Amino acid sequence: MISETTQSNMAKKNQTLGEFIIENQAEFKYSSGELSRLINSIRLAAKVVNHEVNKAGLVDIIGAAGDTNIQGEDQQKLDVYANEKFIQTLSNRNIVCGIGSEENDDFIAINSLDENNQNKYVVLIDPLDGSSNIDVNVSVGTIFSVYRRVTPVGTPVTIDDFLQEGNKQVAAGYVIYGTSTMLVYTTGHGVNGFTLNPAIGTFYLSHPSMQFPETGNIYSINEGNYAHFPQGVKSYIKYCQEEKEDRPYTSRYIGSLVSDFHRNLIKGGIYIYPQTSKAPNGKLRLLYECNPMAFLAEQANGLASDGFQRILDIQPTELHQRVPIFCGSRKMVEKAEEFMKNS
Ligand code: AHG
Ligand code: MN
Ligand code: MN
Repeated sequence: MISETTQSNMAKKNQTLGEFIIENQAEFKYSSGELSRLINSIRLAAKVVNHEVNKAGLVDIIGAAGDTNIQGEDQQKLDVYANEKFIQTLSNRNIVCGIGSEENDDFIAINSLDENNQNKYVVLIDPLDGSSNIDVNVSVGTIFSVYRRVTPVGTPVTIDDFLQEGNKQVAAGYVIYGTSTMLVYTTGHGVNGFTLNPAIGTFYLSHPSMQFPETGNIYSINEGNYAHFPQGVKSYIKYCQEEKEDRPYTSRYIGSLVSDFHRNLIKGGIYIYPQTSKAPNGKLRLLYECNPMAFLAEQANGLASDGFQRILDIQPTELHQRVPIFCGSRKMVEKAEEFMKNS
Protein backbone atom coordinates (compact mmCIF):
# COMPACT_ATOMS: atom_id res chain seq x y z
CA MET A 1 0.00 0.00 0.00
CA ILE A 2 1.28 3.51 -0.78
CA SER A 3 1.54 5.76 2.28
CA GLU A 4 -0.05 9.20 2.32
CA THR A 5 3.36 10.96 2.27
CA THR A 6 4.53 8.90 -0.69
CA GLN A 7 1.27 9.66 -2.44
CA SER A 8 1.62 13.38 -1.89
CA ASN A 9 5.29 13.28 -3.00
CA MET A 10 4.23 11.44 -6.12
CA ALA A 11 1.55 14.00 -6.77
CA LYS A 12 4.11 16.76 -6.31
CA LYS A 13 6.54 15.06 -8.63
CA ASN A 14 3.96 14.94 -11.40
CA GLN A 15 3.52 18.68 -11.15
CA THR A 16 4.64 20.74 -14.11
CA LEU A 17 6.65 23.92 -13.69
CA GLY A 18 3.68 25.91 -15.01
CA GLU A 19 1.39 24.45 -12.34
CA PHE A 20 4.02 24.93 -9.65
CA ILE A 21 4.47 28.61 -10.52
CA ILE A 22 0.74 29.27 -10.28
CA GLU A 23 0.33 27.27 -7.08
CA ASN A 24 3.18 29.11 -5.34
CA GLN A 25 2.43 32.59 -6.59
CA ALA A 26 0.92 33.66 -3.28
CA GLU A 27 4.29 33.11 -1.57
CA PHE A 28 5.84 36.09 -3.32
CA LYS A 29 6.14 39.23 -1.28
CA TYR A 30 4.54 41.39 -3.97
CA SER A 31 2.14 38.91 -5.47
CA SER A 32 0.89 40.57 -8.63
CA GLY A 33 1.70 37.71 -10.97
CA GLU A 34 4.56 39.57 -12.64
CA LEU A 35 7.32 37.53 -11.07
CA SER A 36 5.47 34.37 -12.10
CA ARG A 37 5.35 35.65 -15.67
CA LEU A 38 9.04 36.46 -15.47
CA ILE A 39 9.91 32.91 -14.36
CA ASN A 40 7.66 31.66 -17.15
CA SER A 41 9.61 33.65 -19.72
CA ILE A 42 12.88 32.17 -18.40
CA ARG A 43 11.32 28.72 -18.79
CA LEU A 44 10.51 29.54 -22.41
CA ALA A 45 13.97 30.92 -23.25
CA ALA A 46 15.56 27.89 -21.54
CA LYS A 47 13.68 25.55 -23.88
CA VAL A 48 14.75 27.50 -26.96
CA VAL A 49 18.40 27.61 -25.87
CA ASN A 50 18.29 23.95 -24.89
CA HIS A 51 17.19 23.04 -28.40
CA GLU A 52 20.16 24.90 -29.88
CA VAL A 53 22.71 23.63 -27.32
CA ASN A 54 21.67 20.06 -28.09
CA LYS A 55 22.54 20.57 -31.74
CA ALA A 56 26.06 21.77 -30.91
CA GLY A 57 27.57 18.36 -31.67
CA LEU A 58 26.35 18.64 -35.25
CA VAL A 59 28.82 21.41 -36.09
CA ASP A 60 30.59 19.27 -38.68
CA ILE A 61 27.28 18.79 -40.41
CA ILE A 62 25.53 22.12 -40.06
CA GLY A 63 28.62 24.34 -39.74
CA ALA A 64 30.54 25.74 -36.78
CA ALA A 65 29.82 28.98 -34.98
CA GLY A 66 31.08 31.86 -37.08
CA ASP A 67 30.42 29.97 -40.37
CA THR A 68 27.68 30.63 -42.85
CA ASN A 69 25.22 27.76 -43.12
CA ILE A 70 23.72 26.19 -46.20
CA GLN A 71 20.83 28.67 -46.24
CA GLY A 72 23.32 31.53 -46.22
CA GLU A 73 22.56 32.36 -42.56
CA ASP A 74 25.37 33.16 -40.15
CA GLN A 75 25.91 30.53 -37.46
CA GLN A 76 26.17 32.33 -34.18
CA LYS A 77 28.33 31.41 -31.26
CA LEU A 78 26.09 29.74 -28.70
CA ASP A 79 26.78 32.23 -25.96
CA VAL A 80 25.74 35.08 -28.27
CA TYR A 81 22.68 33.09 -29.33
CA ALA A 82 21.70 32.34 -25.73
CA ASN A 83 22.19 35.99 -24.82
CA GLU A 84 19.89 37.14 -27.62
CA LYS A 85 17.19 34.60 -26.80
CA PHE A 86 17.08 35.44 -23.09
CA ILE A 87 17.09 39.18 -23.78
CA GLN A 88 14.35 38.87 -26.43
CA THR A 89 12.14 36.72 -24.23
CA LEU A 90 12.59 38.88 -21.14
CA SER A 91 12.14 42.17 -23.02
CA ASN A 92 8.82 41.39 -24.65
CA ARG A 93 6.59 40.96 -21.64
CA ASN A 94 6.23 44.30 -19.87
CA ILE A 95 7.79 43.00 -16.66
CA VAL A 96 11.50 43.68 -16.97
CA CYS A 97 12.86 47.23 -17.17
CA GLY A 98 16.56 46.38 -17.45
CA ILE A 99 18.95 43.53 -18.17
CA GLY A 100 22.62 43.16 -17.29
CA SER A 101 24.47 40.37 -19.06
CA GLU A 102 27.95 38.93 -19.09
CA GLU A 103 27.83 39.35 -22.87
CA ASN A 104 27.07 43.10 -22.82
CA ASP A 105 29.43 45.80 -21.59
CA ASP A 106 26.55 47.97 -20.37
CA PHE A 107 23.12 47.19 -19.00
CA ILE A 108 20.16 47.33 -21.39
CA ALA A 109 17.23 49.62 -20.56
CA ILE A 110 13.84 48.35 -21.70
CA ASN A 111 10.94 50.59 -22.73
CA SER A 112 12.77 53.49 -21.14
CA LEU A 113 11.03 55.96 -23.46
CA ASP A 114 7.52 54.73 -22.74
CA GLU A 115 6.27 56.73 -19.75
CA ASN A 116 3.42 54.30 -19.18
CA ASN A 117 5.75 51.42 -18.57
CA GLN A 118 5.24 49.90 -15.16
CA ASN A 119 8.02 47.30 -15.41
CA LYS A 120 9.51 46.70 -11.99
CA TYR A 121 12.16 44.03 -12.33
CA VAL A 122 15.78 43.95 -13.42
CA VAL A 123 17.45 40.71 -14.45
CA LEU A 124 21.15 39.81 -14.50
CA ILE A 125 22.25 36.83 -16.59
CA ASP A 126 25.16 34.68 -17.52
CA PRO A 127 23.49 33.37 -20.69
CA LEU A 128 25.91 30.50 -21.21
CA ASP A 129 28.11 29.47 -18.34
CA GLY A 130 30.98 27.06 -18.96
CA SER A 131 30.83 27.81 -22.66
CA SER A 132 34.33 26.44 -23.30
CA ASN A 133 32.84 23.02 -22.53
CA ILE A 134 30.42 23.15 -25.48
CA ASP A 135 32.94 21.84 -28.00
CA VAL A 136 33.62 18.75 -25.91
CA ASN A 137 30.01 17.82 -25.14
CA VAL A 138 30.16 18.68 -21.45
CA SER A 139 27.26 20.27 -19.56
CA VAL A 140 26.83 24.03 -19.65
CA GLY A 141 24.25 26.29 -18.07
CA THR A 142 22.46 29.63 -17.79
CA ILE A 143 22.43 31.61 -14.53
CA PHE A 144 19.88 34.31 -13.69
CA SER A 145 19.23 36.74 -10.87
CA VAL A 146 16.19 38.99 -10.36
CA TYR A 147 15.75 42.22 -8.34
CA ARG A 148 13.05 44.82 -7.95
CA ARG A 149 14.22 48.15 -9.28
CA VAL A 150 15.12 50.82 -6.71
CA THR A 151 14.53 53.85 -8.95
CA PRO A 152 10.94 55.01 -9.58
CA VAL A 153 8.75 52.95 -11.92
CA GLY A 154 8.22 54.69 -15.26
CA THR A 155 11.67 56.30 -15.32
CA PRO A 156 14.66 54.85 -17.20
CA VAL A 157 16.66 52.31 -15.16
CA THR A 158 20.03 53.39 -13.82
CA ILE A 159 23.13 51.52 -12.68
CA ASP A 160 21.76 51.73 -9.08
CA ASP A 161 19.03 49.27 -10.03
CA PHE A 162 21.73 46.70 -10.80
CA LEU A 163 24.25 47.41 -8.06
CA GLN A 164 22.13 45.96 -5.25
CA GLU A 165 23.38 43.62 -2.54
CA GLY A 166 22.63 39.97 -3.30
CA ASN A 167 20.40 39.77 -0.21
CA LYS A 168 17.89 41.91 -2.14
CA GLN A 169 17.36 39.25 -4.84
CA VAL A 170 13.74 38.21 -5.28
CA ALA A 171 14.54 35.19 -7.42
CA ALA A 172 17.57 33.38 -8.81
CA GLY A 173 18.32 30.13 -10.52
CA TYR A 174 20.07 28.24 -13.24
CA VAL A 175 19.34 26.02 -16.17
CA ILE A 176 21.66 23.09 -16.68
CA TYR A 177 21.90 21.67 -20.19
CA GLY A 178 23.19 18.25 -19.20
CA THR A 179 22.31 14.61 -19.66
CA SER A 180 18.90 16.00 -18.84
CA THR A 181 17.99 19.66 -18.92
CA MET A 182 16.93 21.07 -15.59
CA LEU A 183 15.73 24.40 -14.27
CA VAL A 184 16.57 24.96 -10.60
CA TYR A 185 15.36 28.15 -8.91
CA THR A 186 14.38 29.93 -5.75
CA THR A 187 12.11 32.83 -4.93
CA GLY A 188 13.28 32.83 -1.31
CA HIS A 189 11.18 29.86 -0.23
CA GLY A 190 13.59 26.98 -0.73
CA VAL A 191 15.02 25.58 -3.93
CA ASN A 192 13.15 23.39 -6.40
CA GLY A 193 14.45 21.56 -9.46
CA PHE A 194 12.46 20.75 -12.61
CA THR A 195 13.51 18.33 -15.34
CA LEU A 196 12.58 18.86 -18.98
CA ASN A 197 10.80 16.08 -20.82
CA PRO A 198 12.16 16.98 -24.26
CA ALA A 199 9.58 14.89 -26.09
CA ILE A 200 6.77 17.20 -25.02
CA GLY A 201 8.74 20.28 -23.97
CA THR A 202 7.45 20.29 -20.39
CA PHE A 203 9.43 20.78 -17.17
CA TYR A 204 8.34 18.53 -14.28
CA LEU A 205 9.10 18.98 -10.60
CA SER A 206 11.74 16.29 -10.10
CA HIS A 207 13.75 17.68 -7.17
CA PRO A 208 11.43 19.33 -4.59
CA SER A 209 13.05 21.23 -1.69
CA MET A 210 16.68 20.69 -2.64
CA GLN A 211 19.14 20.85 0.27
CA PHE A 212 22.91 20.76 0.39
CA PRO A 213 23.98 17.90 2.65
CA GLU A 214 25.44 19.57 5.76
CA THR A 215 28.86 18.25 4.80
CA GLY A 216 30.25 16.23 1.91
CA ASN A 217 33.38 14.71 0.49
CA ILE A 218 33.82 16.61 -2.77
CA TYR A 219 36.03 19.64 -3.25
CA SER A 220 35.91 21.48 -6.59
CA ILE A 221 38.70 23.89 -7.47
CA ASN A 222 41.02 24.42 -10.42
CA GLU A 223 44.16 23.04 -8.78
CA GLY A 224 46.23 24.00 -11.82
CA ASN A 225 46.36 27.45 -10.24
CA TYR A 226 47.74 26.05 -6.94
CA ALA A 227 50.97 28.04 -7.03
CA HIS A 228 48.96 31.27 -7.24
CA PHE A 229 46.49 30.51 -4.44
CA PRO A 230 46.56 32.35 -1.10
CA GLN A 231 47.99 30.36 1.82
CA GLY A 232 44.53 29.75 3.35
CA VAL A 233 43.35 27.96 0.19
CA LYS A 234 46.57 25.95 -0.09
CA SER A 235 46.18 24.81 3.52
CA TYR A 236 42.50 23.95 3.01
CA ILE A 237 43.38 21.82 -0.04
CA LYS A 238 46.00 19.98 2.05
CA TYR A 239 43.32 19.48 4.73
CA CYS A 240 40.98 17.97 2.08
CA GLN A 241 43.75 15.60 1.01
CA GLU A 242 44.77 14.54 4.51
CA GLU A 243 44.27 10.89 5.58
CA LYS A 244 42.07 11.51 8.64
CA GLU A 245 38.47 10.86 9.77
CA ASP A 246 36.30 11.11 6.62
CA ARG A 247 39.20 12.38 4.48
CA PRO A 248 40.78 12.46 1.95
CA TYR A 249 37.93 14.05 0.01
CA THR A 250 37.37 13.51 -3.69
CA SER A 251 38.39 16.19 -6.16
CA ARG A 252 35.84 16.92 -8.91
CA TYR A 253 36.07 19.93 -11.22
CA ILE A 254 34.14 20.26 -14.47
CA GLY A 255 34.94 23.90 -15.21
CA SER A 256 31.25 24.84 -15.51
CA LEU A 257 30.14 26.59 -12.33
CA VAL A 258 26.54 25.49 -12.89
CA SER A 259 27.48 21.82 -13.28
CA ASP A 260 29.96 21.80 -10.39
CA PHE A 261 27.45 23.55 -8.13
CA HIS A 262 24.61 21.22 -9.17
CA ARG A 263 26.62 18.07 -8.45
CA ASN A 264 27.74 19.40 -5.08
CA LEU A 265 24.18 20.42 -4.21
CA ILE A 266 23.02 16.87 -4.75
CA LYS A 267 26.01 14.99 -3.36
CA GLY A 268 27.50 17.41 -0.83
CA GLY A 269 30.65 19.39 -1.51
CA ILE A 270 32.38 22.74 -1.78
CA TYR A 271 33.12 24.82 -4.88
CA ILE A 272 35.97 27.32 -4.66
CA TYR A 273 37.14 29.94 -7.13
CA PRO A 274 39.55 31.95 -4.97
CA GLN A 275 41.59 35.06 -5.52
CA THR A 276 44.99 34.27 -7.06
CA SER A 277 48.19 36.25 -7.34
CA LYS A 278 47.25 36.81 -10.99
CA ALA A 279 43.56 37.59 -10.39
CA PRO A 280 43.26 39.29 -6.98
CA ASN A 281 39.44 39.22 -7.09
CA GLY A 282 39.14 35.74 -8.54
CA LYS A 283 37.43 35.11 -11.85
CA LEU A 284 33.71 34.77 -11.27
CA ARG A 285 31.34 37.72 -11.49
CA LEU A 286 29.48 38.89 -8.43
CA LEU A 287 26.23 39.97 -10.06
CA TYR A 288 25.37 37.15 -12.43
CA GLU A 289 27.42 34.20 -11.15
CA CYS A 290 28.19 34.47 -7.43
CA ASN A 291 25.08 36.24 -6.08
CA PRO A 292 22.51 33.94 -7.72
CA MET A 293 24.50 30.86 -6.67
CA ALA A 294 24.87 32.28 -3.15
CA PHE A 295 21.12 32.89 -2.89
CA LEU A 296 20.44 29.32 -4.06
CA ALA A 297 23.09 27.93 -1.69
CA GLU A 298 21.61 29.67 1.35
CA GLN A 299 18.07 28.71 0.38
CA ALA A 300 19.29 25.11 0.16
CA ASN A 301 20.82 25.21 3.64
CA GLY A 302 24.35 25.79 2.33
CA LEU A 303 26.67 28.79 2.53
CA ALA A 304 28.48 31.15 0.18
CA SER A 305 31.38 33.31 1.26
CA ASP A 306 34.27 35.23 -0.29
CA GLY A 307 36.47 33.57 2.33
CA PHE A 308 35.78 36.23 4.94
CA GLN A 309 32.22 37.46 4.55
CA ARG A 310 28.84 36.45 3.21
CA ILE A 311 28.66 36.93 -0.59
CA LEU A 312 25.07 38.23 -0.33
CA ASP A 313 26.18 41.16 1.87
CA ILE A 314 28.77 42.57 -0.54
CA GLN A 315 27.84 46.01 -1.89
CA PRO A 316 28.58 45.86 -5.64
CA THR A 317 30.37 48.79 -7.22
CA GLU A 318 30.52 47.64 -10.86
CA LEU A 319 28.35 45.60 -13.22
CA HIS A 320 31.08 43.12 -14.10
CA GLN A 321 32.75 43.02 -10.68
CA ARG A 322 34.62 39.83 -9.79
CA VAL A 323 34.74 38.22 -6.39
CA PRO A 324 36.32 35.10 -4.84
CA ILE A 325 33.76 32.42 -3.94
CA PHE A 326 33.62 29.49 -1.52
CA CYS A 327 30.22 27.89 -1.68
CA GLY A 328 28.36 24.69 -0.93
CA SER A 329 27.82 22.45 2.10
CA ARG A 330 27.66 24.53 5.26
CA LYS A 331 30.32 22.76 7.33
CA MET A 332 32.80 22.65 4.45
CA VAL A 333 32.46 26.37 3.74
CA GLU A 334 32.87 27.13 7.45
CA LYS A 335 36.04 25.04 7.53
CA ALA A 336 37.49 26.75 4.45
CA GLU A 337 36.70 30.18 5.99
CA GLU A 338 38.54 29.10 9.13
CA PHE A 339 41.67 28.39 7.04
CA MET A 340 41.34 31.74 5.26
CA LYS A 341 40.95 33.68 8.50
CA ASN A 342 43.85 31.92 10.21
CA SER A 343 46.32 32.31 7.38
P1 AHG B 1 31.77 31.51 -18.63
O1 AHG B 1 31.74 30.35 -19.58
O2 AHG B 1 30.41 32.11 -18.39
O3 AHG B 1 32.81 32.53 -18.99
O4 AHG B 1 32.15 30.98 -17.16
C1 AHG B 1 33.21 30.09 -16.96
C2 AHG B 1 33.52 30.09 -15.50
C3 AHG B 1 32.78 29.07 -14.67
O5 AHG B 1 31.69 28.45 -15.24
C4 AHG B 1 33.81 28.03 -14.36
O6 AHG B 1 33.58 27.44 -13.13
C5 AHG B 1 35.09 28.78 -14.41
O7 AHG B 1 34.89 29.82 -15.34
C6 AHG B 1 36.22 27.93 -14.85
O8 AHG B 1 37.36 28.70 -14.85
P2 AHG B 1 38.84 28.03 -15.00
O9 AHG B 1 38.90 27.51 -16.39
O10 AHG B 1 39.75 29.19 -14.74
O11 AHG B 1 38.94 26.96 -13.95
MN1 MN C 1 30.03 31.91 -16.30
MN1 MN D 1 29.06 32.94 -19.83
